[in-house]
Amino acid sequence: MRLTVIGTGYLGATHAAAMAELGFEVLGVDVDPAKIEALGRGELPFYEPGLPELLRKHTASGRLRFTTSMEKAGAFGDVHFIAVGTPQKAGEAAADMTYVDAAVAGIAAAATRDSLIVGKSTVPVGSARRLKEIAEEYAPAGIHLDFAWNPEFLREGFAVEDTLRPDRLVVGTDSRTADQTLRRVYASALTRGTPYISTDFETAELVKVAANAFLATKISFINAFAEVTETVGGDIQTLADAIGHDARIGRRFLNAGVGFGGGCLPKDIRALQARIGELGLDKTMRFLNEVDEINMRRRDRVVFLAEQLLGDLADKRIAVLGTSFKPDSDDVRDSPALDIAGRLYGGGAEVLVYDPKANENSAKRFPRLTYVDSIEEAVQDVDVVLLLTEWQEFKDMKPGDLEAFVGSRQIVDGRNVLDRVDWENAGWTFRGLGLKVPEVVSART
Ligand code: UGA
Repeated sequence: MRLTVIGTGYLGATHAAAMAELGFEVLGVDVDPAKIEALGRGELPFYEPGLPELLRKHTASGRLRFTTSMEKAGAFGDVHFIAVGTPQKAGEAAADMTYVDAAVAGIAAAATRDSLIVGKSTVPVGSARRLKEIAEEYAPAGIHLDFAWNPEFLREGFAVEDTLRPDRLVVGTDSRTADQTLRRVYASALTRGTPYISTDFETAELVKVAANAFLATKISFINAFAEVTETVGGDIQTLADAIGHDARIGRRFLNAGVGFGGGCLPKDIRALQARIGELGLDKTMRFLNEVDEINMRRRDRVVFLAEQLLGDLADKRIAVLGTSFKPDSDDVRDSPALDIAGRLYGGGAEVLVYDPKANENSAKRFPRLTYVDSIEEAVQDVDVVLLLTEWQEFKDMKPGDLEAFVGSRQIVDGRNVLDRVDWENAGWTFRGLGLKVPEVVSART
């Protein structure tokens, strides 16, 4: 069986390399010639742990190749995976389906034999049925195209592991042949006992957005309680630990902080609300509006804490540690950390930024921030240090590591990863998300 993967971003490039690792002949397809050339040379245009090795291994073995030609893809593949992006439409909450529509029409028109088209992108419910019709419309006469929806649950930073060893497989289709073909594609996972959920198109589409909406809600849930502990006192981490011991709740995705970002959770909850609204169920997903707003308020809180510590942002020097939306990624799409850095700059501060992998992507969006290559350079003479993405090297920081460099001993832990007591004992003013700001002792006695 020969596979194509159309769209070679985080999802597609990982899927293509992982399928080659499983032993398939794979052709990756993208409209961006520069990206295709780089991938063909075994070079990954973004950061994802473990993926460069897999890419090099299989471009070298010849099992994984890349092209910009849909014709070649149509002639090559028995199964075509659609992995192009569905970004948020400019100025709207809904997902932009232009790329998925074009990919399905393109590969259907290019098919030279009966084959299977499998959607992996995150799409509004109802899309698979519509796309199946597009495929049928564009298929050359006499060619039969089966259709399936097989959402992807990989996390950036763990993309290879999640693709090679998924915790579940979900396949929505109306074709027995499609289902059997995908069982063969995923045979190694099935042999290990990975749950395989065979269902209809709508359920498969909804599983994906339901999972992301649930995760976003879980994060905003704990962040709402962070707003409470910021007011009444208390310890948000202990609260999360304590409720997390209840197996029905679970501790994961209960870390309060600057909130969720990235190319998935924020746009998926907005697109879900938009789609469900279109279906006439205006109230059904309204709570996701709150989830989004709680999330955005976390950024306001960090700016507030910085302003409170500095009095006024104008002409202050601020260190921002971390701008990627999460550690082990160079992705800055909808990154809370980068948004905060930009706002501080907008308030008149000089912002020194260090991210282990995301400086380059950040500079494309916010060229006026000052990008440096180490913690030491970032904290040089600053009035406050903000830890906004929990890279390991920031989690490992000790007060003594920074004291020779900073202008003032003030730190805001945006991710609840530092030991407050250590920093306070070393004479630092420490602020955290979920942490009540101590009463300012009046100078008048
Ligand atoms: C997310 C989902 O976790 C994947 O299952 C899904 O496949 C993917 O979206 C997608 O739709 O493609 P990802 O965007 O890579 O994956 O990132 P997550 O690990 O989910 O983190 C999302 C955001 O939530 C990050 O900004 C992270 O810092 C934040 N987060 C996470 C918290 O603020 N608190 C937590 O406790 C956990």
